[in-house]
Amino acid sequence: MSKTIQSGSFKCNPLPDEGAVLRQLVADAELDHAARAEISITAAKLVEKIRNSARPGLMESFLAEYGLSTNEGVALMCLAEALLRVPDIITLDALIEAKIAPSNWRKHLGHSTSALVNASTWGLMLTGKVLENGEAGLVGTMRAVTRRLGEPVIRTAVAAAMREMGHQFVLGQNISDALKNAREYEEKGFTYSYDMLGEAATTEADARQYHLSYSAAISAIAESCIHNDIRQNPGISVKLSALHPRYEMPNRERVMEELVPRVQALALLAKSAGMGLNIDAEEADRLQLSLEVIAAVLSDPALKNWDGFGVVVQAYGLNAGPVLDWLYELAARIDRKIMVRLVKGAYWDTEIKRAQVLGLNGFPVFTRKTATDVSYISNARKLLGMRDRVYPQFATHNAHTVAAILQMAGTNRDFEFQRLHGMGENLHDIVIQENDTRCRIYAPVGAHRDLLAYLVRRLLENGANSSFVNQIVDKAVPSSEVAQDPFLDVEKHQGEEQNPAILHPIALYGNARANAQGWDITDKRDLEEIEKARTPFRKEQFEVGPLIAKGAKGIEKVSLTNPYDPSDSVGIITQASPADVKAALTVARPWKASAKRRAAI
Ligand code: FAD
Ligand code: 2OP
Repeated sequence: MSKTIQSGSFKCNPLPDEGAVLRQLVADAELDHAARAEISITAAKLVEKIRNSARPGLMESFLAEYGLSTNEGVALMCLAEALLRVPDIITLDALIEAKIAPSNWRKHLGHSTSALVNASTWGLMLTGKVLENGEAGLVGTMRAVTRRLGEPVIRTAVAAAMREMGHQFVLGQNISDALKNAREYEEKGFTYSYDMLGEAATTEADARQYHLSYSAAISAIAESCIHNDIRQNPGISVKLSALHPRYEMPNRERVMEELVPRVQALALLAKSAGMGLNIDAEEADRLQLSLEVIAAVLSDPALKNWDGFGVVVQAYGLNAGPVLDWLYELAARIDRKIMVRLVKGAYWDTEIKRAQVLGLNGFPVFTRKTATDVSYISNARKLLGMRDRVYPQFATHNAHTVAAILQMAGTNRDFEFQRLHGMGENLHDIVIQENDTRCRIYAPVGAHRDLLAYLVRRLLENGANSSFVNQIVDKAVPSSEVAQDPFLDVEKHQGEEQNPAILHPIALYGNARANAQGWDITDKRDLEEIEKARTPFRKEQFEVGPLIAKGAKGIEKVSLTNPYDPSDSVGIITQASPADVKAALTVARPWKASAKRRAAI
């Protein structure tokens, strides 16, 4: 593979034009109509097989019934999001009442294919009724009984239901349990990448704790690294935000000084264990900084001859392609082989909201699901072409995406699929058997209190009715529709690539007014502009004092310093003397303007 790309640090426009990026991706995918039709047929067959093979998992049934398109689904997501961190029982009861009582649970009764989901609906319906206050008749009696049992029972039941959902996504509460629980799928030929739950450390103590927990996990997993080929061994996935409490661009220097050695230490341990260590991708505003950290860690000569360093690239990011090119160039420049996991991206809602709140001039991510699908396929093609330096890892639960990769890869099996623990079991059981491909399972490990952020991301991405997991359990959606070619939808929206259903950050207030222009202090270019604009004021010495009708005399002069940097002198302030205060009061007159005029002024 040869390509001329810029070297050094990753430079890009974080908010490029969505349409231009998408058109290039469609061209680079090099899939004609015939190839695309073939992919959709294979995918539809996979959908049929999944539907016929086994019962859907609890989570899939739950989300099919309570997707984000129903009020009840939204109420449950809010509840799940908040429940695990509510500190006291009074607030907990208030929260349950606010979220459960107003919803119409009755309409979900008996709908689901899962008995457990139906039972939960009964529970939620009764709970809703208990909290609403009763009526007569049989149902009324049942409600009265439940009411007698009291709120603690309801609280326990709701908490248990949410915990059950959490269990679905966690392989074990600690690494030794997780390693034991992994055996079942290892015997079927799967491998693992363990994720020690925990992210976004806010204190140094938390960051150290997470660092120790990753180190201990690597040592424990090392025992299972019995193969010479690193791709066959289990690995670990790490979130940089867990390892530093100020992992953000404005603190770049501190991050490079403190976070890089922490990651290097983990990477060295992983190298000694003969396993892969993967850096998860997080929010788009961390992208530039994450790549600087990655380049610094990977360039450590002590890591030479280790092919286990892994990076995640998010296909929903408008810069996914340039990031892949940059990683390839980095690997070539320092003569290494790396692993790259391609995902669609787990922070879509956050990215949209953040851009709108900040009033940025666009979004860092695609605004249509099908655009992300096309980006994934096109970038998968790019990755397959980088295999002299990169081991591609395709993480998806979508049968169409899997079918596209199988088609593009042909007979070359030098790549692996990946899925999340608790998701996509049926799809990947079929794919691994039929295609002689590898599959790795990303397995969260840890206590429930650390699961929250991860759980919310799963609920949001799977609760959306556009998600594959949501559609597969809904047999009313024909398999051909579930497996529909995303290129067709992209073609349909040519010229209107940015989805008008998602308000552009500047147009947030419609015709009333434009949103205030925001500054993104995680974007190097914005930081440089702010720095440039404030440079002239750095040398300025301000002189301030009382401004009164007769001219103030002042009493003493006080020198002012920048509150966060005592060596930075801002200027001098002259304090008013008692005589100045008296003079000001003497000349003061009541303001006689009307209230209306005063308000206007
Ligand atoms: P699909 O249903 O086909 O796709 C859903 C995805 O489409 C959403 O998640 C979103 O990315 C995208 N999408 C939805 N609506 C829109 C819209 N309106 N406009 C544009 N795009 C939209 N994610 C990370 O961010 N970082 C990681 O490090 C990471 N690691 C992972 C590791 C593994 C092994 C796996 C399996 C997943 C990982 N993920 C990670 C999560 C991953 O991003 C989601 O699971 C994935 O996006 C779901 O994609 P899918 O192909 O399975 O499902
Ligand atoms: C997440 O934490 C799996 O890394 C992905 O959502």
